[in-house]
Amino acid sequence: MADKKAYLKIDGIEETIELPVMQGSEGPDVVDVRALTSEGLFTYDPGFVSTAACESKITFIDGGKGVLLHGGYPIEELAEKSDYMEVCYLLLNGELPTPEQKEKFVSTVKNHTMIHEQLSHFYNGFRRDAHPMAIMCGVVGALSAFYHDSLDIDDAHHREVCAYRLVAKMPTLAAMSYKYSNGQPFMYPRNDLNYAENFLYMMFGTPCEEYVPNPVVAKAMDRIFVLHADHEQNASTSTVRLAGSSGANPFACIASGIAALWGPAHGGANEAVLTMLDEIGSVENIPDFINKAKDPNDPFRLMGFGHRVYRNFDPRAKVMKVSCDEVLKELGLEDDPMLKMAKELERIALEDDYFVERKLYPNVDFYSGIILKAIGIPTNMFTVIFALSRTIGWISHWSEFHSSPNRIGRPRQLYTGPSKRSYPG
Ligand code: SDX
Repeated sequence: MADKKAYLKIDGIEETIELPVMQGSEGPDVVDVRALTSEGLFTYDPGFVSTAACESKITFIDGGKGVLLHGGYPIEELAEKSDYMEVCYLLLNGELPTPEQKEKFVSTVKNHTMIHEQLSHFYNGFRRDAHPMAIMCGVVGALSAFYHDSLDIDDAHHREVCAYRLVAKMPTLAAMSYKYSNGQPFMYPRNDLNYAENFLYMMFGTPCEEYVPNPVVAKAMDRIFVLHADHEQNASTSTVRLAGSSGANPFACIASGIAALWGPAHGGANEAVLTMLDEIGSVENIPDFINKAKDPNDPFRLMGFGHRVYRNFDPRAKVMKVSCDEVLKELGLEDDPMLKMAKELERIALEDDYFVERKLYPNVDFYSGIILKAIGIPTNMFTVIFALSRTIGWISHWSEFHSSPNRIGRPRQLYTGPSKRSYPG
């Protein structure tokens, strides 16, 4: 319907305020409230529960139906039929690549996987037991020192080169953050391996002997990359967009996304799920922890459960659960006690009124940690892998922001502090 309007009547203001209502191709209409400032009004929406901060064409989520589309393609179909390199192309360009376009994209990424030798010295500044997410915040931000001058963010080609560099170098930097923690030598990327195989090689290979990535593990790794690639305006992506709105260097913007993702309420949840399952210890203890999660006076929450947008199953969690069963069976770990406990925890929670009433379902982080643990990834690397996967989403949104006229993001506030007063004396 053309020119839909919203009408706002406010006590004390004579005239009715007329606001345009904008319609997208999918999802809720939005009320354009920009005119309210001239009426001396702000909107108030802590946590941005009902705020559309931007227009985007990249990803659509229907939280009520548990739908996630990238460029219109359902995540379930991409997880089954596509791969991470193809999804990276889709998120950046809005269309799936032709075979020729994909071949060129993969080849270009492969030619950017090495990092400047100077950058490897940054790792030595960290303690060996530094959390790898702390290292990633540092070294990814440091990339801006290596490419600062060759970057015009208003030039589409420069933005594309940034995307290639980041997608290509994140696995190298991530694997190095793991190798640094165990004292093994950094492994240089290999262009004869695909993206997931190369990451596993850099993580678990050593100069002493040949390392051949397990194809089942590599496929599971690639699927995990696909499932974490992008997710609309989540906290870390919104952070990248806001940082980008000041014109900041894209590598610094991605570092801000890594920092935001680290929190246990966001990407840090996959690591927190494993810590929680370890703490629960056995199926018999599950009821006690469910009660803790329901207790309003207890800060404990069921990690891997709930979501700001999904009021249904997170479609990624459903794919991850199937993949979990497949991978653990392939690896002869189908009796993994952690998996059994996770499934029992999910069953009990989904039957409990507290979770049902609040529409709390497993999210992407609930099963991912169990697969990652099964394929040998240490728990403190789980969020690093989330950051590695989500880099394409972050840089796609950063690039989309800079591809059209934009303004610096600058939210306002409801001020409840002291009114003007004079300095005493
Ligand atoms: C990710 O945004 C994204 O898209 C993020 C993400 C992505 O791909 O980028 O999907 C990735 O971050 C997934 C979420 C991972 N986080 C966790 O698994 C941590 C556990 N979950 C919660 O912290 C929580 O559910 C959030 C942070 C995910 C969502 O928080 P909201 O939307 O602010 O929900 P809320 O805190 O307002 O909760 C509503 C109610 C509250 O109870 P009441 O006050 O109404 O009585 O539900 C309760 C909450 O206490 N609740 C939970 C709970 N999550 C919400 N109670 C127990 N356990 C939980 N996990």
